[in-house]
Amino acid sequence: MSKRYTITAALPYTNGPIHIGHLAGVYVPADIYARYLRMRNKEVLFICGSDEHGVAISMKAKKEGITPKEVIDKYHNMIKNSFDAFGISFDYYGRTSSDVHRKTAQEFFKTMHDEGCFETQTTKQLYDAKEDQFLADRYVTGTCPKCGNPEAYGDQCESCGSSLNATDLIEPKSALSGEPPSLKTTTHWYLPLDRYEDFLRSWILESHKSDWKTNVLGQVKSWIDDGLKPRAVTRDLSWGIPVPVEGGENKVLYVWFDAPIGYISATKEWALQTGKDWKPYWQGKNTELVHFIGKDNIVFHCIIFPSVLKAMGSYILPENVPANEFLNLEGQKLSTSKNWAVWLHEYLEDFPGKQDVLRYVLTANAPETKDNDFTWSDFQTRNNSELVAIFGNFINRVMVLMRKYYDGKVPVPNAYNEADESTRSELATAPHKIAALIEQYKFRAASQEMMQLARLGNKYLADEEPWKLIKTNPDRVATIMHTALQVAAGLAIVSEPFLPYTAQKLRNMLQIESNLDWDSLNGLSPIGGGHQLGEATLLFEKIEDDAITKQLERLTS
Ligand code: MF3
Ligand code: ZN
Repeated sequence: MSKRYTITAALPYTNGPIHIGHLAGVYVPADIYARYLRMRNKEVLFICGSDEHGVAISMKAKKEGITPKEVIDKYHNMIKNSFDAFGISFDYYGRTSSDVHRKTAQEFFKTMHDEGCFETQTTKQLYDAKEDQFLADRYVTGTCPKCGNPEAYGDQCESCGSSLNATDLIEPKSALSGEPPSLKTTTHWYLPLDRYEDFLRSWILESHKSDWKTNVLGQVKSWIDDGLKPRAVTRDLSWGIPVPVEGGENKVLYVWFDAPIGYISATKEWALQTGKDWKPYWQGKNTELVHFIGKDNIVFHCIIFPSVLKAMGSYILPENVPANEFLNLEGQKLSTSKNWAVWLHEYLEDFPGKQDVLRYVLTANAPETKDNDFTWSDFQTRNNSELVAIFGNFINRVMVLMRKYYDGKVPVPNAYNEADESTRSELATAPHKIAALIEQYKFRAASQEMMQLARLGNKYLADEEPWKLIKTNPDRVATIMHTALQVAAGLAIVSEPFLPYTAQKLRNMLQIESNLDWDSLNGLSPIGGGHQLGEATLLFEKIEDDAITKQLERLTS
């Protein structure tokens, strides 16, 4: 039986809109992967949703003077709309405030609890007496014990990526009152990660040592080598999923316990809606589970969640977790609080219809192996000298000449010469090259191979110069135009994962089926002689300097 794929993209927190960093690091690569596999006729389930619990949400509510529910509704809709607009092709987009999710997360907790997978610890925790609030996670800031960043949170340091306990912070400060916290005794359930060390070592550091990304392996190794410790999976908060066992009154599940289970709840909701069974997607032996995340999520997806899945027994483990590094903006770290970001909803207002341009630029410069920088000038160059001057120019030439010489009716080719043969053979290998790169999660290189195909088409026309031969040698021109059209059709196919809107326009122009799959190029000639082309439309347009200046001004204003 053929493989089934469950693809997940990190559930974004609904405490704000999303920006280019999210898109570049997680959602565009995940979408490329899902679209590609669908074109290979694989059974794909692409899952995401809103992460609606945790201190990030209650802090935002407090700051805006509204309820947490109002916060999550607002940003859930906003984020969902941005994903739709950018063509992120989730099969289901859920939210962790749903009933199905609450029940599923509680079931996980209850089962693990009853099977003795947790231990309880009574400890002194940071407490804000003025606010009558325990200070876990983002309710407390202080200096990171690992890197010295003075603005680390109680659960994580965003500077070095370390995951922390609130009590690890040096000189902690309450994020609510700004006061140094006092200590108060409380009891919580802990997941003893130390019990999973052998399993994690052999599963990741042995079995996956050559197919997982080195940035991921590196983090996992340093986590394990530092010694895995029990981690609390409950919190003294009011916003979250109630702890479903005795003694759990006034406590909720830790957001990082419930959130990844959200992938499973979302699958259940999708299955209910479509009349399918959710289980094969999470428990089937021939299902490949792939988590797309940013590097700050590595520990949760490679260590904690797999330990939970392992404890539950019947679940599959991820086949890969292709985490990306971070994207910077004009040389500085993206920051929501400092408003140093390109927000997707604002981009759409300023560049309507140009979703593919951003998708392309973010992919061509994706932070796959190291942090990378997004600059508006690079955005302009990639648009003007690649999408417009290469891809768009090639398609435009083909369409114009086809209309002019043949009224859009594809000519039958004559004998192929060496130039035609070499173009045809490059065209035939392009999908294999691109496929191999996508399957290794090298989306950046894959996008460049796609552009290489457009370059090939452009160069072929420039070298063969059909416009000089149309009077003297129409037979030769028929062969050239037929060949150029095959390259255009190839582009319509291989650009679909990267540039879905462009690929759709191109398919309309070429009047080819939307269900043309990846392998149709193997036999070449997806378009035969006599085929009637459709109307030409503009694929890309030049972005002028003033549009770029405006963006730079907006950033610093
Ligand atoms: N909300 C988290 C973040 O933005 C990601 C959650 S991923 C999941 O960093 F696995 F928990 F769902
Ligand atoms: Zn740090």
